Amino acid sequence: MSEEREVSRRRLFRWGAAAAAIGGVVGHAAAWTRALVPNVRYEPPQRRTLGPLDRFPKGRTFLSDEKLFIVRDKLGLRALSAVCSHLGCTVGPSKAGYHCPCHGSRFAADGANLDGPAPRPLVWYALSIAGSGALVVDLGKEVAAEVALEIPRRGA
Ligand code: FES
Repeated sequence: MSEEREVSRRRLFRWGAAAAAIGGVVGHAAAWTRALVPNVRYEPPQRRTLGPLDRFPKGRTFLSDEKLFIVRDKLGLRALSAVCSHLGCTVGPSKAGYHCPCHGSRFAADGANLDGPAPRPLVWYALSIAGSGALVVDLGKEVAAEVALEIPRRGA
């Protein structure tokens, strides 16, 4: 009886050791395989096509999907973020510039923060014109408020 129990215990240890060895090999193989997959961040593209230039008349055009104001004035075309620099609410236009409805921050027409809890100005993004003639914004490239895209003359 005692010898039988000893054999059974030995068998249990063998199975346990085999299971641990197999688990170790499988774990290492899984980790090695995972190392072959690059660590990539899947984010939406930073460059967005906004549409033909005549979609943006003089003044401010709000694009809700992009949370952007496209400003067309004597400087040309510029893209201003409508995301409040405080906690990210969407700002709206006001007489003097922009106003955040969440906590009352006010911004000048050039995006400078005037008062309220917003710690920084609104962000301006780079604009360009695609080969198709459509306006393109690069949300990964911030520019100064004075940087404008010159509007090409028709037929030029
Ligand atoms: S989110 Fe705009 S003032 Fe707080």
